[in-house]
Amino acid sequence: MTISHIAILSSGGDAPGMNCAIRAIVRTALFKGIKVSGVRRGYSGLVKGDFREMNHSSVGNILQRGGTILQTSRSPEFMEKKFREVAYNNLKTHGVDALIVIGGDGSFNGAKNFGEEFNFPVIGIPGTIDNDISGTEYTIGFETAVQTAIDAVDRIRDTAHSHARTFLVEVMGRNSSAIALKVGVCTGAENVLLPHEEVDYQRIIDDVNRGVARGKESSIIIVAEGPKSGRSYEIRKNLKEQYKLDAHVAILGHIQRGGSPVATDRFIASEMGNLAVNALIEGKTAHVTVVREGKTIIAPISECVTKQDLHFTEYKKLAQTLSI
Ligand code: F6P
Repeated sequence: MTISHIAILSSGGDAPGMNCAIRAIVRTALFKGIKVSGVRRGYSGLVKGDFREMNHSSVGNILQRGGTILQTSRSPEFMEKKFREVAYNNLKTHGVDALIVIGGDGSFNGAKNFGEEFNFPVIGIPGTIDNDISGTEYTIGFETAVQTAIDAVDRIRDTAHSHARTFLVEVMGRNSSAIALKVGVCTGAENVLLPHEEVDYQRIIDDVNRGVARGKESSIIIVAEGPKSGRSYEIRKNLKEQYKLDAHVAILGHIQRGGSPVATDRFIASEMGNLAVNALIEGKTAHVTVVREGKTIIAPISECVTKQDLHFTEYKKLAQTLSI
């Protein structure tokens, strides 16, 4: 089937670098003589028929901008077949013959179902700061979020040192350890609390005391947020009540999702956007652009529809060893 009109949408949590992918898709498609429509606010826009045609200048001056110019949403309605059918009819009405979805594993599940049900060509591009999608070593936005968190922790270290304090710094990532581990190593954190582990309070106390004994003036404990943001408050309470350790809490929150993408995100997103369009032209469907062994390639979408958290728990040991 010849592709003449591609629609793009971004879905789920936004991630720095999504705009680079959108730009690469639009520019590659136009270069190949393919029309492009942007869908506003993810799958909601697909259901509402909120489409707008994109040209070269629609994606001018966006490479350095965080967020997504198409905006995004978490759209539970797309889990229902009746809404997917409305979406399909909207695509047909607009003459669209292929869809590119930038998002996480949930968004790819929707894309996979949609593609199968309506025999509609779909390609996914992994975009989430959590870096937790199966089948790919990298998701767009991760390195920028890590850098933002590192910058914040560096600032917290300044004040922690001045006041000789211990800080619990909570980073995003939901059940993924990826951000917490990388930030922990890169900021010299004394400990990293992972989402799937019981908190070892005695170990925190030992880590902090060891530092104090050798003259350290501050301690940073990186806390992976887990299923619900705010677990650091409970940890602080237990440290105070049971171990007499006073710790301050800093929850970095959504600042980790914003900001100008770093080079890795710009580069991989540009490669992925270009590859997604070329894959559609070559007749591929139900695939995702992925990074494997450092290379950006295309893989079946069925390999990318679950979460994975294989993020090097040995980094926790590394952070602890290097911060003694
Ligand atoms: O999935 C990306 C992410 O930023 C997670 O790290 C975080 O737990 C979640 O989204 C927050 O979602 P929301 O912005 O919808 O509160």
